[in-house]
Amino acid sequence: MNHVDMSGKVCLVTGANSGIGLVTARELVRLGADVILSCRDERKGDAARAGIRQATGRDVAAILYADFASLDDVRRLAAEVQGIGRPLHVLVNNAGLMLTERRTTREGFEYTFGVNHLAPFLLTELLREHLRKSGEARIVNVASRAHKRAQLDFDDLQSERSFDGWTVYCRSKLCNVLFNLELARRLEGTGVTANSLHPGVVATGFGRESTGLWKTILAIGRPFMTSPEGGARTSIFLASDPSVRGVSGKYFATCRPATPSKAGQSRSDAARLWEISERLVAA
Ligand SMILES: NC(=O)c1ccc[n+]([C@@H]2O[C@H](COP(=O)([O-])OP(=O)(O)OC[C@H]3O[C@@H](n4cnc5c(N)ncnc54)[C@H](OP(=O)(O)O)[C@@H]3O)[C@@H](O)[C@H]2O)c1
Repeated sequence: MNHVDMSGKVCLVTGANSGIGLVTARELVRLGADVILSCRDERKGDAARAGIRQATGRDVAAILYADFASLDDVRRLAAEVQGIGRPLHVLVNNAGLMLTERRTTREGFEYTFGVNHLAPFLLTELLREHLRKSGEARIVNVASRAHKRAQLDFDDLQSERSFDGWTVYCRSKLCNVLFNLELARRLEGTGVTANSLHPGVVATGFGRESTGLWKTILAIGRPFMTSPEGGARTSIFLASDPSVRGVSGKYFATCRPATPSKAGQSRSDAARLWEISERLVAA
């Protein structure tokens, strides 16, 4: 990866207080970018800001707070980003989680689907024009190789019939890959690119809300996982590297193009998911 000068570039990183998002934000600050952190907890946001300042000698541009389990919060976040009065050159849709029990968001959507898919879908839609006006801009969607284990069930996107936390998480990551595919198609000719990625299997706070067997699996696996620094590499690469200028609609792993699952390449499913998501966030 080249050392890129990101001075003058404004970047928004969601889930920026922990794990992959924190390192992504910190390293973009180090590259000279003006980085806006999106967090949901003030205490964690303040700690992230202090850590970034200490590590890089630079402050972040702003911290904005939003709980992605509320689409009203996402709408407020998008308005606040635009209210800063600066262009937006990079949007890193990174916030995400896995649950072991079914919960619902404030609007009543299954929580994993709501936080991992509907929230970044809406945020991106609301910021699309703002990104386009910035000239060249990049959208980076943090998906996962876990999407390869999923098929979408359009008749049960809210997992009401059956809930298994891992299956639902994999589906949400397939949604990220399909969202990216359709987004890139819709962005053609605008100067804004969109790429999704697998960050690796990374030792972060991921799965911290898990219980039972998953808690044990994550604890045992942790020493064998990639560091958050390694996990953030592909996000930083896609956000900043000149070699991917103009590249769009692709899925990356370890800073290289990779092949998503067959389900992740379905243009018809991507279009269908988009239409459904559009209706859900408008409701
Ligand atoms: N770790 C891995 O092995 C791995 C592998 C593949 C993909 N990923 C993806 O990488 C991304 C980052 O995960 P990570 O591994 O860095 O995990 P992490 O350390 O748990 O970070 C997740 C971030 O998402 C935020 N978040 C969770 N729920 C939220 C909500 N309701 N509203 C707003 N923000 C919320 C968290 O905020 P709080 O701290 O306030 O909870 C945190 O900042 C996720 O999209 C995940 O699916 C991770």
